[in-house]
Amino acid sequence: MTARALGIIGGSGLGRLTALEIEHQQQVETPYGNPSAPLTFGRLYGNPLVFVPRHGAEHKIPPHRINYRANLWALRDAGVERVVGMAAVGGIALPLAPGALAIPDQIIDYTWGREHTLFEGDQSGVSHIDFSAPYCEALRQALLAAATGIEIAIHAGGTYGATQGPRLESSAEIARLERDGCDMVGMTGMPEASLARELGLCYASLALSVNWAAGKTDGPITMAEIEHNLEHGMARAHQVLSAVAAA
Ligand code: HPA
Repeated sequence: MTARALGIIGGSGLGRLTALEIEHQQQVETPYGNPSAPLTFGRLYGNPLVFVPRHGAEHKIPPHRINYRANLWALRDAGVERVVGMAAVGGIALPLAPGALAIPDQIIDYTWGREHTLFEGDQSGVSHIDFSAPYCEALRQALLAAATGIEIAIHAGGTYGATQGPRLESSAEIARLERDGCDMVGMTGMPEASLARELGLCYASLALSVNWAAGKTDGPITMAEIEHNLEHGMARAHQVLSAVAAA
């Protein structure tokens, strides 16, 4: 039996994964339009993988304009059953200092105005997916085991607060998220996770903290700081992905 490809929704950094052998790329159409970029089919240590860069091949699509429905539909059409959403986040809780990796286990959605469901009524009908546990537990555990197996420190849980962006939050907004129970904040976790559930995909998120969230340190959050932490953390995130693709 051929192993099912692992789907990865990530940033452009994955292209730099030296171990990724790109086999081909395919422009696909879905009932919801085009995904952010052509799908990349490749192998990571011999394990099949399908990759789509969430923000587009040239990183030009902001969080509120991503076609989340098309990205997930395209991955499912490609035969993918498991999807890892890579996520850069701001750390709110103490263990999530810049550089920390986490596999969140809960979500609070603060986004608005995004195309967030496949069940629009009419032909698609009315359907209410269960979202009590928003991430696929089997894939969460696989990611955690993969990280532990290669001795990469990773935080086993946490609540992801999904904000609208593209601006960062005010300190008061982060204080509110913290009171709500959020441990990290990012702009792309929703509706990605709930659409994956609607499509029957097993979806989990691999989060990398790239800054302290607003008001958690003195001074403004700079893009330089975010880029520095992305650059330094991505290699570890890629190692975890390689290990889970091989598992
Ligand atoms: N807020 C929202 N999204 C983010 C942040 C943040 O501080 N850092 C990286 N993505």
